[in-house]
Amino acid sequence: MLFSVLSTAAMALSILAPTVAAVPTPGPQKGNTGLTKLAARMPKSALPAPDGLQLKFVGLGIGTQNYTCKPGNDTAEPGTTGAVAKLYDLGTRLNTDPLADWKISTISGLALNMYDYPAVLNGLLWSQGYQQVLGDHFFTITVPTFYLNKVNATPKPLAFVKKNLGVDAPKSACPGIKGEGAIQWLHLIDNGNSQGGVNTVYRLETAGGAKPKTCKGMPEHWEVPYAAQYWVYGPAA
Ligand SMILES: *[C@@H]1O[C@H](CO)[C@@H](O)[C@H](O)[C@H]1NC(C)=O
Ligand SMILES: *[C@@H]1O[C@H](CO)[C@@H](O)[C@H](O)[C@H]1NC(C)=O
Repeated sequence: MLFSVLSTAAMALSILAPTVAAVPTPGPQKGNTGLTKLAARMPKSALPAPDGLQLKFVGLGIGTQNYTCKPGNDTAEPGTTGAVAKLYDLGTRLNTDPLADWKISTISGLALNMYDYPAVLNGLLWSQGYQQVLGDHFFTITVPTFYLNKVNATPKPLAFVKKNLGVDAPKSACPGIKGEGAIQWLHLIDNGNSQGGVNTVYRLETAGGAKPKTCKGMPEHWEVPYAAQYWVYGPAA
């Protein structure tokens, strides 16, 4: 495993053209018109289109999906208690990258594959200029939250969302470190409390993170590592 991850990493580092340079703090800066070029490359799915909205950020989320089971009921479905992920800025670099389509479809699985090797993962992020953190994804009680507190903006973009629609990840999705399966792609919409110019989040290009169908053989709570891309939209600035 270590060998295959390291050779995958070495391959990634040598194949992907190194693009390291001074990385600006993620926008929106003055005159920001959104990630216009990247918006046209949003991965296709059956989720509703972001009509009339502007693509503001694309974050690579790397973290865990958390699940629970009540002991002693093998037929019960596991509950979802939340998720925690660090969001790395993919959008700034991908917006002008001629290889964007290819990188969009591969980076989630590649990053998840390095989950247990943080130094290797960091090397991948730095080699591509994705090391800048946008902020965090977590749950506020039961509300999925995206707090982009590292973004250069006042107020900081903060999305409190609810699920509008989910569709199964494509068969080609990375199934996760232990083959758990890839979590659904989601269309998440503002629950009325978002601020900072963001109101819609798509969870796309998921890798890993899924829960089993039943609680059979599962502990009371556990975490499943995952990676996903969060495409964050809002009204045009
Ligand atoms: C086990 O879970 C199933 C599905 O949620 C439920 O219908 C059933 O009542 C539960 N059984 C017990 C003993 O709690
Ligand atoms: C989810 O798991 C992570 C990693 O163990 C933990 O830090 C976090 O507090 C958990 N969150 C919830 C809501 O259970």
